[in-house]
Amino acid sequence: MKTRPSVFVTRPVPGSALDRLRKEADVEVREEDTIISKNELLEGVKGKDALLCILTDPVDQDVIVAGNQLKIISNFGAGFDKIDVAAATRRGIPVTNTPGALTETTADMTMGLIIAAARRIVEGDKYTRECKYDGWGPSFFLGNEVHGKTLGVIGMGKIGTALSRRAIHGFHMNVLYDDYGGEREKAKEWGARCVSMETLLKESDFISLHVPLTPKTNKLIDERALKHMKPTAVLVNTSRGDVIDQHALARALKNKEIGAAALDVYEDEPRCPVELIPLSNVILIPHTGSATKEARSAMSDMAVDALIDFFNGRTLQNLVNPDALKKG
Ligand code: DGY
Repeated sequence: MKTRPSVFVTRPVPGSALDRLRKEADVEVREEDTIISKNELLEGVKGKDALLCILTDPVDQDVIVAGNQLKIISNFGAGFDKIDVAAATRRGIPVTNTPGALTETTADMTMGLIIAAARRIVEGDKYTRECKYDGWGPSFFLGNEVHGKTLGVIGMGKIGTALSRRAIHGFHMNVLYDDYGGEREKAKEWGARCVSMETLLKESDFISLHVPLTPKTNKLIDERALKHMKPTAVLVNTSRGDVIDQHALARALKNKEIGAAALDVYEDEPRCPVELIPLSNVILIPHTGSATKEARSAMSDMAVDALIDFFNGRTLQNLVNPDALKKG
């Protein structure tokens, strides 16, 4: 790129990565630390060479068309389901994401949710704060063991593998996985077993979702899948809300058809389904699976590196649509 490129950044990002970007490009950062509206996005991309967006920004066809000079989209986040990648590809615009930077962090949170749900940590906290605790008892606040139990990992990719390592080596769990995810070698080496989805659902004490949101994974956990699960099963979701049919899940939790759930993500974020709120057998957190200073700063670096590499004609490390580069 001959002249100094221009970049629109939809929201401030942690760390010092933007300072590095400013050395290479004219950077306009939308300073409000809030969700950007579609209108602001449409306005912001106009005349810009590059867009640095976050995973919840609706970078749809309208935005891509409005950014008539856009040459690259760098997504702050591993999941890029809010970007119309097909529209970007048609216009020859490469899209990059930030996998890897949040793998271990999200696996930590997932393990935390598994333990919190099994051992009723959130319920116990609430109970204690409400000054209801009036003495230890042999049958008081019983939960379920985690160590030695069976964990079903749906989506054996980077995070699924990092979770399996914790589960197998740290908690001596049996790990089952199914067809989803392309990085099974390590888990297999550690003793994880590949089974059918039905077997995974039936045999797992804990089921954790690590698939990207695609038409194939949309509502993957529906009423039928929930019915296969043990009545004590704990379902954990740190992937995308739409992977679960939330109404079916609320029904299953209310009727005690499964034991518990722990959710980091929701179908219609930032809205959390009202029917889940009164239920004590579900833990609800606000999409904070990767929310550590270290991971978010690494994500900033990765998102900015993609732009700097592009401006300098270097190979893009985390390109999600290689076909875009075949255009023109
Ligand atoms: C991602 O990067 O897609 C995660 O959802 C962030 O937590």
